[in-house]
Amino acid sequence: MSKPRILVARAIFSDIVDRLREHFDVEANPDDVIWTQQELAARLADKDGVLTTGSQSVDAALLAAAPRLKICANMAVGYNNFDVDAMTAAGVQGTNTPDVLTDTTADFGFALLMATARRLTESEHYLRAGQWTKWSYDMFAGSDIHGSTLGIIGMGRIGQGIAKRGAHGFGMKVIYHNRSRLAPALEADCKATYVGKEELLRTADHVMLVVPYSAASHHTIGAAELALMKPTATLINIARGGIVDDAALAVALREQRIAAAGLDVFEGEPSVHPDLLTVPNVVLTPHIASATVPTRRAMANLAADNLIAFFDGRGPLTPVNQPVPGLRA
Ligand code: DGY
Repeated sequence: MSKPRILVARAIFSDIVDRLREHFDVEANPDDVIWTQQELAARLADKDGVLTTGSQSVDAALLAAAPRLKICANMAVGYNNFDVDAMTAAGVQGTNTPDVLTDTTADFGFALLMATARRLTESEHYLRAGQWTKWSYDMFAGSDIHGSTLGIIGMGRIGQGIAKRGAHGFGMKVIYHNRSRLAPALEADCKATYVGKEELLRTADHVMLVVPYSAASHHTIGAAELALMKPTATLINIARGGIVDDAALAVALREQRIAAAGLDVFEGEPSVHPDLLTVPNVVLTPHIASATVPTRRAMANLAADNLIAFFDGRGPLTPVNQPVPGLRA
């Protein structure tokens, strides 16, 4: 019997591609070419499954061009690159990679918070540029992490990981806002108190965004929300581009209406709003919150395992939708 045909849409670890080859007829992308939607559609015309990353959009037009496609395994926990309703209607399974990246991403949230509040990159650039000729009492004075109030918007697994690091590791007061309130035992574990969004923005010293992207969370932070924040506050976005109105943020940073921001994700990435590149009080990283070798391997392996389990008939391990089986032959 012939093996199912799989497309690995971006370069991933070659030994994991080799593992996929034991089960599938694989077309890979070892040179990591960024295909247009038309090129992706042409490659998917004869494929049964695809391993995607967050940079491939799976929409109704792509699904129509891929009549054999039965599963899209995303190598990411976020799956806003999937039109889940279109996939479900077309009978296409979607999967993601939850859990395996939670701690790595929470660690990074803290790294970005520390770098931003303590002005790490700004001071390093100053030193490298040979501008450090004398020490002064207020040189790169930032804001404290320990004992401050951390406001987390989005209290899923990663948000909870950040809350625990803040409360238990740094003695922070943790407040959070989420679509639904956590169970009391989870709140106690995270030492976190539920508040409304406006109260969070008004009282937090550091605001951390960990909310999934959807039409409802688009521009969760815009000019009006930035205006509620303390002038000494920092804003950290490790969630998704589009959760923050980057143009409004650049204005708030330039006018020092908030103290600083740390951004790992951007509207329209890999493009970055040009005004963010010229303000000094922002730390910018290229969507690397889950980027450690063990975690990226775990994500790639889980995406591969989803494909293997699906075609073995065991069902997907970490599904994001429940299409009616058998809609696609
Ligand atoms: C995720 O897993 O969603 C990360 O943002 C990597 O894409």
